[in-house]
Amino acid sequence: MTNTRMVKAVVLIGGPQKGTRFRPLSMDILKPLFPVAGFPMIYHHIDAARKIKGLREILLIGSYQQSDALHRFIMEVQHEFRILIRYLQEYAPLGTGGALYHFRDQILAGNPEVFFVMNCDVCCDFPLAEMLEFHKSRGPGVHHTILGTNATRQQSLNYGCIVEDSETHRVRHYVEKPETFVSTTINCGVYIFSPDIFNCIAKQLENSKEAINFDLTSTEQNPNIVKLDDAIAKMTTEKDSNGIIHVYHTIKFWSQIKSAGAAVFANRHYLSIYHRTHPERLAKLGPNQPNIIGDVFIHATARVDPTATLGPNVTIGSGVTIGAGVRVRETLILDGAIVGDHACILYTIIGPRATIGQWTRIEGTANDPNPNKPFAKLDVCGAFSNDGRLQPSITVIGSSVFVPSEVVILNSIVLPNKELRGSFKNQIIL
Ligand code: GTP
Repeated sequence: MTNTRMVKAVVLIGGPQKGTRFRPLSMDILKPLFPVAGFPMIYHHIDAARKIKGLREILLIGSYQQSDALHRFIMEVQHEFRILIRYLQEYAPLGTGGALYHFRDQILAGNPEVFFVMNCDVCCDFPLAEMLEFHKSRGPGVHHTILGTNATRQQSLNYGCIVEDSETHRVRHYVEKPETFVSTTINCGVYIFSPDIFNCIAKQLENSKEAINFDLTSTEQNPNIVKLDDAIAKMTTEKDSNGIIHVYHTIKFWSQIKSAGAAVFANRHYLSIYHRTHPERLAKLGPNQPNIIGDVFIHATARVDPTATLGPNVTIGSGVTIGAGVRVRETLILDGAIVGDHACILYTIIGPRATIGQWTRIEGTANDPNPNKPFAKLDVCGAFSNDGRLQPSITVIGSSVFVPSEVVILNSIVLPNKELRGSFKNQIIL
């Protein structure tokens, strides 16, 4: 097997127009920087990518304005991992394919043999080294690899569905969110591309420009917008030597973070892999320490009363204060939040700098048939309702919200900066 010459990785981070289902949490934190299991969403991608042999640099591509938060994140992570990370900003959202194509010169600078592309809103155990081995084992030449996993028939309808040749794993047919069942193998949003992918995207760009020219009503459309899914679908329908694509199957966990509620499940996933990758990040029982059940992350600067009970699947952010007798389970409490004595918080996200009064109960509901069952792969433990759609009723308390003492907040979403005055159930508080 040949050694890989040089490799790059691209993380597609979207822009302000994306991530709408992630509100209200994306209202004052860029979605790609939303912390899951104690670290920004894309930190997990970078942590996985930096371990690839021959990795030269990581490019973040999106249409967010460069911000202090993004700049600081990049500086800190570059310093921590001693790897080059750059943010490339699109002038407008160009779609996943259009964004890659727009920055093709930057991606191909230095002549990488292949490059990884990862959607920022996937949460997985990123089997990048295994995927690269698989990619190389297909032999030399122009081809690409897509990470796939198994979904149920119902779940598959919400994803890009892959039909493959069972012996060679070559993708024969690809349909994004089909109306009727196509295949239970779905696209995980992680790819290895050889540079020839740009020929395929260029063809798709030509097609979309032609379509716009024919459609006299679409003068507003940017002709440079192309979805990677459309390019992949086209590649598999045409006999094109640039378009040979294989699927590498993973049985490791995989889920997406589209809605705020899905972050609770992603948190659970990432905490579970810390056992293998970063056991030091998981809180331990000890004298004068809170009672810990299962997987819990507590930031070093958080102050947790030793009489509190946390877990399973809890993340406590930096500068958080947790009072006496507090109970927290299946929850993320973000930076600077204060939780008063004896509060009880279940299946919830508490936004940054929110204040929760004493003896208050905040609760969401998860369709979680068996919370103790370990995850194997796709999130089958509750992030989906029976029709396969993401549907956890997580309670979300926006940033700087004040929740008084002795109230109950159930299955509700509270927008930032609100001062609540009573109990609420099944409400969106604007
Ligand atoms: P949806 O269910 O419609 O969200 O489908 P999807 O999961 O295929 O999502 P989509 O293709 O829209 O986005 C996949 C990833 O690419 C996400 O992480 C987005 O943030 C990112 N993304 C989407 N559109 C753009 C874009 O125009 N530019 C960049 N740079 N990233 C994008």
